[in-house]
Amino acid sequence: MKFFIDTANLDEIKEAAALGILDGVTTNPSLLSKESMPYRKLLTEICKVVEGPVSAEVVATDTEGMIREAEDLAEIAGNITVKIPCIKEGIKAIKRLSEKDIMTNATLCFSPMQALMVAKAGGTFVSPFVGRLDDVSHVGMDLIRQVVTIYENYGFKTEVLVASIRNPLHAVDAALMGAHVATMPFKVITQLIKHPLTDVGLKRFLDDWEKVNKG
Ligand code: G3P
Repeated sequence: MKFFIDTANLDEIKEAAALGILDGVTTNPSLLSKESMPYRKLLTEICKVVEGPVSAEVVATDTEGMIREAEDLAEIAGNITVKIPCIKEGIKAIKRLSEKDIMTNATLCFSPMQALMVAKAGGTFVSPFVGRLDDVSHVGMDLIRQVVTIYENYGFKTEVLVASIRNPLHAVDAALMGAHVATMPFKVITQLIKHPLTDVGLKRFLDDWEKVNKG
């Protein structure tokens, strides 16, 4: 499973990249609004740090506007992946962009049929938002299981990018279900490596090693 980081914060991206296991970045207008650097410059910098796909979202809601914005965003760097919302106009835009070889990430996906339409349109990634489904008392990970099964049934190439991950269990389930990608906030990435028994065990080994040296 590929690991993407879900942030537009350059320091967090650099720190995650230094782990050597970062495969890409996802941003959205809300994440970009938290940063002070102008968004084009910021995206340019992010694309220099991470070789893999870097998602940047359109804000137009009509197909032609989405395509114009996508072409403009794609100029920033070769690894820009354009986020397009899962609406009717978005499906048309994804189809047209796939014909132009511009990578897309269909965002705000909340149903298996939205995901099927994205795959039929030739989307590069689909982003089901699991945390936001949990927020409204639907089990978000059920959607991932459905989308993975549907894509496998028909051999679609679109990758399932689990988004709106809020905790390590979302990532565990994503891996068990065979999702291609999990995009996680920096906090969750660090939680994945942390285990109290590792810390306690390491302290004990180091304390005992002190005794060996003294003896
Ligand atoms: O990048 C989109 C997505 O991951 C948003 O997450 O926590 O705002 O639902 P969240």
